[in-house]
Amino acid sequence: MTAWICFSAASSALWEVDITPGRLDRKAWTVDPEQYYTRITPQAKRKDLAQFFTPPEIAEFMVKWVLDVRPRTILDPAAGTGIFVRKVSAINRAGGKAPSVLAMDVDPDILRVAKESLQTYRNVRYEVADFLKCGLEEPFDAVVCNPPYYKHHFVEHKKQLVEQFNRRYGSSLTGMTSVYCLFLIKAVNLLAAGGRGAFIIPSEFMNADYGVAVKSYLLEHRLLDAILVLDYESRAFPDALTTSCILLISRDPSKPRGAPVELFRARGARDFADLCARILNRTAVPLRSLEPGSLDPNLKWHNYFYTARRRDHSDLFSPLESLARCSRGIATGSNEYFTLSELERKQGGLSEDEVRACVTKSAQAGELVFTARDFERLRTCNKKCYLLYPGGELTPAMRRYLARGERLAVHEKFLTRNRHPWYRPEQRLPADIWVTVFYRGRPRFVLNEARILNLTTFHGIYLHPSLSSLREILFAYLNSSLCTEFIRPQSREYGGGLLKLEPRDVERILLPEFAKMSGPDLDAVRDAVALLREGRLDTGRFLESIDPVFERYGNAPSGEHSPA
Ligand SMILES: C[S@@+](CC[C@H](N)C(=O)[O-])C[C@H]1O[C@@H](n2cnc3c(N)ncnc32)[C@H](O)[C@@H]1O
Repeated sequence: MTAWICFSAASSALWEVDITPGRLDRKAWTVDPEQYYTRITPQAKRKDLAQFFTPPEIAEFMVKWVLDVRPRTILDPAAGTGIFVRKVSAINRAGGKAPSVLAMDVDPDILRVAKESLQTYRNVRYEVADFLKCGLEEPFDAVVCNPPYYKHHFVEHKKQLVEQFNRRYGSSLTGMTSVYCLFLIKAVNLLAAGGRGAFIIPSEFMNADYGVAVKSYLLEHRLLDAILVLDYESRAFPDALTTSCILLISRDPSKPRGAPVELFRARGARDFADLCARILNRTAVPLRSLEPGSLDPNLKWHNYFYTARRRDHSDLFSPLESLARCSRGIATGSNEYFTLSELERKQGGLSEDEVRACVTKSAQAGELVFTARDFERLRTCNKKCYLLYPGGELTPAMRRYLARGERLAVHEKFLTRNRHPWYRPEQRLPADIWVTVFYRGRPRFVLNEARILNLTTFHGIYLHPSLSSLREILFAYLNSSLCTEFIRPQSREYGGGLLKLEPRDVERILLPEFAKMSGPDLDAVRDAVALLREGRLDTGRFLESIDPVFERYGNAPSGEHSPA
């Protein structure tokens, strides 16, 4: 057996990959190198080196875009199994002089798969090197790149590397800059005059603090032609848990100062295919077309994409705080101690008056409606679904339970030692609707039918008491696709596509005027909620029935990308 042992640039792990020549399934290798490589390689290695592969239709679009300037030389600095090189070869077969490609990767195993999978295209140089540290100087006519997205603290001597970049490229990148942005900055600096670059990267930099310097750099150097956001609901890399965008770059000294940056957004595979075809034949109508001077690098750029459609109609919407308030859930200071199962309650001799029904983990309320029956299930399955709630007069059982807490030093924890008395939790009423604090894709708003309390895993939304008749409408709207569009730019982006909402962000969510909705529309929404509650509609079908109703109040122009 030939085992190739590879040392990771990303961490100090060692992996063994069995690539004994006799054992290679050559057919599988050539038919689908990505799938083949995934099968033979430990997941830990793929994850550490961020070996996620560009879907063929995306790779094809990116390659076609750079080939438009007839490059003689192309660089792929993170080549992986070589999808971009294969696309160059396939498209080139249709005619034209074959450009020479430099395919670089830090991992010799994966580069070997790339090389073996494309024996027909001779004009490729495969080089095993760390792109961020290699001394590549020669300019290229084109760059196509899907850089690695691993955590920046995996990069050795990151601080020195960033300082070196700033000196060399005149950038002001911070130490927190993600690795994929370092790839971007170095690669655009290797572009020859007249050259083009296409990069598929996480859209995180558009909202992150470290992204400000990256955005400024691209704008100052007039590099950015277009950004195409691949909607988070049609994630390009399902395994990588990240939302993506494609940056179309050109280095053109004759580009006018005010040459606009075009913003596009594709919502699914069909939309993407249509949009790409239009971008390539220059008939696409962007969501927005902005001069570099009116794109503010200090702003969260998701705003330009997710509120663009309705920006002109903002007078038709009002923030959620006009109807409701939002507050974070109850922080106990020690969930392990302050939450109990039915068995623990009984064993402690605590009465039902000394605890409160409470959802303690977001997984306990995994659907859109949480009913009394759901609570009963948690209780009978002995899940932790009670919050300790000592009253004014402590019973002997409660005294025993509190004494145990003191023996365990629960009263000395950060929250409890600042609370008087240490064991009394915050007083809250059950919220009307809960919302998940962290989310990917879209947040989940849960109708609290069981009227129980919630810990910090959810924020609670409390409707103004005089508006309680709007509870179902508000709940349905918050889960609608129209609302998701408003929420996205309000959210704070964490690594890996993880998003967070603070209570203030929730209070700023824009709502259409429910009072102006027609009677039949209100009835249709209430009917859909009733069916969902009874389990006669699943989440997908529920959204399908309410989305068109709210869309009517969102002023969505139809055919947003069509030129007419
Ligand atoms: C996201 S994958 C992209 C692979 C391929 N280009 C594609 O689009 O399918 C990133 C690639 O970068 C490689 N890589 C990771 N760190 C690198 C580094 N410092 N220098 C060069 N390549 C690196 C990984 O081994 C991986 O193959």
